[in-house]
Amino acid sequence: MDTLVPTADLSGKLTGTTRRSFIRGIAAAGASTAAAYSLDRGGVASLFAETADAGRRPRFANFTAIAASPADRLEVPEGFRADVLIAWGDKFADADGNVLEYGFNNDFLAFFPVGRRGDEGVLFVNHEYPSPFFQHGYRANAAGVAEGKSWYDVELERKAVGNSLVHVRQSARGIWKVVSPSRYNRRIYGGRVNAPQAALSRFRVTGPLRGDPRVGTSIDGSLGNCSGGITPWGTAISCEENFDGYGLPLEVGNEFANGWVEAGYPDYHPGPPYRTDGPGFAKYGWVCEHDPYNPGFRPRKHTALGRFRHENTAFRAVRGSRVVFYMGDDKSNEGVYKFVSDRAFRPRDRRNNLKILEAGTLYVARWSPEGRRRFATSGDTVPLTATSGTGEWVEVLETELVDTATLLRTRFGTAEYDLHFATNRPEDVEVQPETGHVFVAFTNNSSVRDVHGAVRRIIEDGDDPKATTFTWEEFAQGGPTGRAAAGEQGFSSADNLVFDRAGDVWVVTDISGSSLNRPGPLQYHANNALFYVPTSGPNAGVAFRFGNMPADAEGTGPYFTPDEQTLFLNVQHPGELTGDPAARTAYGDVMNYTSYWPESDKTAGRTPAMPRPATVAITRPRRKRYVKGTNLIPRPLD
Ligand code: FEO
Ligand code: CA
Ligand code: CA
Ligand code: CA
Repeated sequence: MDTLVPTADLSGKLTGTTRRSFIRGIAAAGASTAAAYSLDRGGVASLFAETADAGRRPRFANFTAIAASPADRLEVPEGFRADVLIAWGDKFADADGNVLEYGFNNDFLAFFPVGRRGDEGVLFVNHEYPSPFFQHGYRANAAGVAEGKSWYDVELERKAVGNSLVHVRQSARGIWKVVSPSRYNRRIYGGRVNAPQAALSRFRVTGPLRGDPRVGTSIDGSLGNCSGGITPWGTAISCEENFDGYGLPLEVGNEFANGWVEAGYPDYHPGPPYRTDGPGFAKYGWVCEHDPYNPGFRPRKHTALGRFRHENTAFRAVRGSRVVFYMGDDKSNEGVYKFVSDRAFRPRDRRNNLKILEAGTLYVARWSPEGRRRFATSGDTVPLTATSGTGEWVEVLETELVDTATLLRTRFGTAEYDLHFATNRPEDVEVQPETGHVFVAFTNNSSVRDVHGAVRRIIEDGDDPKATTFTWEEFAQGGPTGRAAAGEQGFSSADNLVFDRAGDVWVVTDISGSSLNRPGPLQYHANNALFYVPTSGPNAGVAFRFGNMPADAEGTGPYFTPDEQTLFLNVQHPGELTGDPAARTAYGDVMNYTSYWPESDKTAGRTPAMPRPATVAITRPRRKRYVKGTNLIPRPLD
């Protein structure tokens, strides 16, 4: 089967210029790329010397905050423009004429520049999880009992997940479009499916567990790709998060039970507890690496970074030294990690750099006085627990990599683990420009009555990313602020973070669809939203609402282009409550779907349409060019 995989091109010849553009680009970008700035501060020669844009005023942070909204539309402030770039089911082709289909539930995205003009690139996108209802009409029966899926149902789900790599270019009018056909266009699937380019979904296993019978040396497909990151050497990282339910029988009835094993796909072993006692039981739950610039690249799964519900990665690197990747385990009462590579990063030494994630030391954060934020009552915004403290990075053993959180809990015991390692569900982790401070979005944790979550800041001792001790403090508290001005009422359930050039943070929220716009502590929030949060000045830690998501949706993967003239944003699971077993809406009864986005607007009573997750490009046209109403998707009717 290996012979079907195009040979990995490790020479870098194909993309030398492009890759250097990328490196230049990340000097000016925010996001996962913030490490570039911390290098300068440390007095180390910057990896990314050119910062031509750095002195220009950030254009996105200059806006008037918008009010919360329950409407079935995407809204950004007037003066900005939002366009759907590509949506679930849209077709795009590679250079060999293979027609590919954009996957479902787009989450992480990153922009890899092509050329030097800043108006062209490859978007790397994750498709986190399928919706059995939207993929093939599946749902529990009228009694709420799960019924079996067919082999073909699961095949459709396997094709809907994975990753997309999409070549995009901005037109003279400033509108981003997909370039198709293109040699950069690619799809990675959830397994070895019957679809174009399926051979590209065969991953090479690296690291300490390569060849271990539980893992093997190659793995078909990638699952649960939530968020991710980039590397200083110009590759994309994709993180396998909720991998553990695909094999669970549907009768289990939880949100992660996908029934793939019982439908005839034995590779997707269930957990937790994860079965690691037999061959092939640990294929998913890893950090994956892809090369957007190399169409034939064989993706990798890196076992050195542990196996847990990986949300994302964010790096700090120093030229000639080792690279540090920060990560969270997105599960209630689980922890925050960092990986310190053995191998040093060397610009332009591609052969060396592609091995950096293969060996190193994994650490888990031990928080003092404790890691979780406990509350007396659900909905409170002042915790019972400390809002600052200290911590240490505790080494994870190689024998614990295969099922990291479970085995750490075994080592430390539940009482110690829950007090000092457990947290309130880490979603995105990002490194702040200039300071190198690490920000973690703790989204919520019902087991300690944390409804609103918070964003925490970690400061490594001595400003050294390789330090084994740190201090921490809460940076921003979720929940209602009591402020009167529109758009300043607060945020809840922070998920993805991205920094802009000025070092301020942009936050998207992921309040579950079943809690949105319902009586209770989250009603103030209306729909999920995108916020701008200054990190300094009188408004430090205050969230200003920049974008509203459509019905039931969350915004994910915000990512600025290097010149910060475009913000790409994914809109995930619009209308997801349609598939809720309690809803009883029939497949095809589009009128009763809970969202019509992006083609139409249910709140406005417009023509029903199938809701589709989509990738959106947000720009700020020059004043002369701005057309009123283009800040809304769909556009308002005359
Ligand atoms: Fe898929 Fe951690 O959200
Ligand atoms: Ca997430
Ligand atoms: Ca992020
Ligand atoms: Ca999410």
